[in-house]
Parts: sequence; structure tokens; C-alpha cells
Amino acid sequence: MRRIALPAAILALCGGALLTVVAQNAPQADAAAAASAAASAPEPVVCFESRQGATEITQRELKPGWPNVKCSPVTGAALWYGDPYDGTVPMAKMPQMEDIPEGQAVVRPRTEKLALLAQCGVACHNGKYPVGFPKDNKPTPIPTMEAMYPDAKNFQHGRGRIWCLDCHHNTQRNKLSDHFGQPISFDEPQLLCGKCHGDKLRDWRDGIHGKRIGEFASNGKKRWFVCTECHNAHNVQDGERNRGFVQVQPESPPQLPRGMKDTSWEKTHPIPQH
Ligand code: HEC
Ligand code: HEC
Ligand code: HEC
Repeated sequence: MRRIALPAAILALCGGALLTVVAQNAPQADAAAAASAAASAPEPVVCFESRQGATEITQRELKPGWPNVKCSPVTGAALWYGDPYDGTVPMAKMPQMEDIPEGQAVVRPRTEKLALLAQCGVACHNGKYPVGFPKDNKPTPIPTMEAMYPDAKNFQHGRGRIWCLDCHHNTQRNKLSDHFGQPISFDEPQLLCGKCHGDKLRDWRDGIHGKRIGEFASNGKKRWFVCTECHNAHNVQDGERNRGFVQVQPESPPQLPRGMKDTSWEKTHPIPQH
């Protein structure tokens, strides 16, 4: 089986190279036209929300002069939303959140950001329980997997106590998994994380952990940031990689109100300082 599979893989790779060569021979005029169009079009403005490489939003106009998002020229972080619900869907039913009226809690789906998932569930992990499924948390490295997905090589979550299939579904690779093997959508990571971090899930539900934007009123409509918009599930511990968090430089202070020359007033305080 191995012997047949290997040449087949090489053939497939060669096929890819051949296709590239053919594509490069495409009419030069088309390429030139595309290049000049790209040169005249303004660079898209991309703001980052909370996790580098995972929560970027491209600026676009919701209506003329009304952008979906404005980003800080200093940090690139999203500062203002033209519509805080842009691109959101209602949050799925959540235990102990039944009091929130339908559609008042919305989230931005994760699935569209996960480019590999569409292939994962069909190309390699084809719906069967993986052959050679590791019995401990130290499986043999699979070079192809590590090349495709470098996070797998330096997995930093749970200090060696958890592994891929504690989170990813055994047979449905496009799903996460609860403690009982029931699938969880990638758009509801709170259900996954909450199975081990119940305290954080409670805090998140209460609004003590995480972030929401939208209407100020407590019963108003809000977009809830889900766990994976801030945390990289594969890297929560590596200090060198900053736990997946990006250091954001502080914004410069706002302009002083008219007539004010310096900020010495900030040092005055109604409560005596000792
Ligand atoms: C703590 C739970 C957890 C563990 C353990 C875990 N993952 Fe994940 N994985 C996730 C979550 C959650 C996502 C979706 C992340 C997101 O929404 O950005 C994900 C996404 C992925 C993706 C899709 C990435 C993409 O960009 O399309 C791959 C591939 C993947 N994981 C592989 C692995 C491998 C291999 C391991 C074992 C080395 C592993 N995961 C261990 C939770 C986990
Ligand atoms: C299968 C159980 C399990 C799941 C599911 C899980 N975690 Fe963890 N997580 C752990 C363990 C175990 C640790 C290590 C705790 C320790 O060392 O004290 C940990 C550590 C963490 C830490 C670091 C805490 C610290 O102080 O270093 C963060 C952040 C975290 N997890 C977030 C998440 C998020 C977000 C998700 C969902 C994508 C998730 N976890 C899913 C088991 C899990
Ligand atoms: C808006 C961003 C954001 C969201 C959403 C978010 N977190 Fe966090 N979380 C943080 C930050 C920031 C920290 C502090 C990280 C640090 O100290 O490295 C943190 C810390 C943690 C820790 C470690 C706490 C400790 O005691 O050390 C865990 C576990 C955790 N989060 C789990 C979750 C889970 C589960 C969810 C979803 C229900 C979630 N987080 C949603 C930003 C977020």
C-alpha cells in the first residue's frame, strides 16, 4: 500500500508543478492589465480586533462615507464600528443563557476564518477514527501535519495533559467535541473551552471575562467575542510567543480641551493624596 501511495503522491505534486508552468504561460496582456489595476486600487485597510492573524477585519463602506470599522493609525486595532453587528449571526442556544431574547446575543462566526477545515474533514481525516490513534499525549509527530500546521509542532496548552482529540472531534474533523463526544461548532468555542474552564465560562456569561460591543443597555443587543477570538487554543502558555497575544502600543493622549495648556489638572484629586 505504502509503495503505491508514495509514487502517486509524487505524481500529484508533479502535476501541480506542471499546472503552475501552464498558468505562467497565460497571455502576458492579462497579467499586465491585472497588475496595473492592482496598482491603481487603494491598499485595503485591515484592522485587527483581538488576535493577530485570526481576527482581522477589512475596512469597507456600509454606505457611502460610512465604514464598517475604523482602525487606529498607531496600532491598527479596531477603534470604532460603523455597525457592531456587521457580519454576525445569532449565538447558538447556550445553557443558562435562556433569558436572553433570541437574536440579542450575536457572534462573528469563526468557520470562515479557518481555511484548513474544509479540507481537514475530507482529504486526510476522512470520517473514520484515525488509524494509529495515540493512546497518550505524546504521539509520533506527523511531518505533513506539522508542515501544514506549525502550531501542532509546538503545542502549548495544558502542560502535556491535553492533546488534539480532547478538543477536536474524533470522526468529524470539522467539529469540536464535548466531554461526551457530541460535536460542537467552531462558532461556539465557549462550549468547548467551558468543558474544562467552567469558571471562565461563568465569568464570560456574566460579562466579567471577554468583551461585548453594541447597545449599552443591559438588555440591549450585543456582539459577544468568543473565546477563540482572543485565545489561540493551540498556544495559551508560551510566554515567548506572548501566549498568542499581541502587545499593543498605547494610543497617544487625546487633544487637550481648548484653553488648557498642560495636564497638571490631572494631578489634582478630590480625595487627599498621601
Ligand atoms: C484546547 C483545545 C484544542 C486542542 C487540544 C487542539 N486544538 Fe486545534 N483547534 C482548536 C480550536 C478551538 C480551533 C479553532 C480556532 C479558531 O477559531 O481560530 C482549532 C483549529 C485547528 C485547525 C484549523 C486551523 C485553520 O486555520 O483552519 C487545525 C488544523 C487544528 N486545530 C489542528 C490541531 C492539532 C493537529 C492539534 C494537536 C496537536 C490540535 N489542533 C489541538 C482547539 C484545539
Ligand atoms: C480538555 C480540557 C481543556 C479544554 C477543552 C481547554 N483547556 Fe485550556 N487548559 C487546560 C489545562 C489542563 C490547562 C493548564 C492549566 C494549568 O497548567 O494549571 C489549560 C490552560 C489554559 C490557559 C492558560 C492558563 C494559564 O494560567 O496559563 C488558557 C488561557 C486556556 N487554557 C484557555 C482555553 C481556551 C480559550 C479553550 C477553548 C478554545 C480551552 N482552554 C480549552 C485544559 C483545557
Ligand atoms: C476579549 C478577549 C477575551 C475573550 C473573548 C476571552 N478571553 Fe480569556 N483571557 C483574556 C486575557 C487578555 C487573559 C489574560 C491573559 C494572560 O494573562 O496572559 C485571559 C485569561 C484567560 C484564562 C487564564 C486565566 C488565569 O487564571 O490565568 C483562561 C483559562 C481563559 N482566559 C479562558 C477563556 C475562555 C474559556 C473564554 C470563553 C468563554 C475566554 N477566555 C474569552 C482575553 C479573553
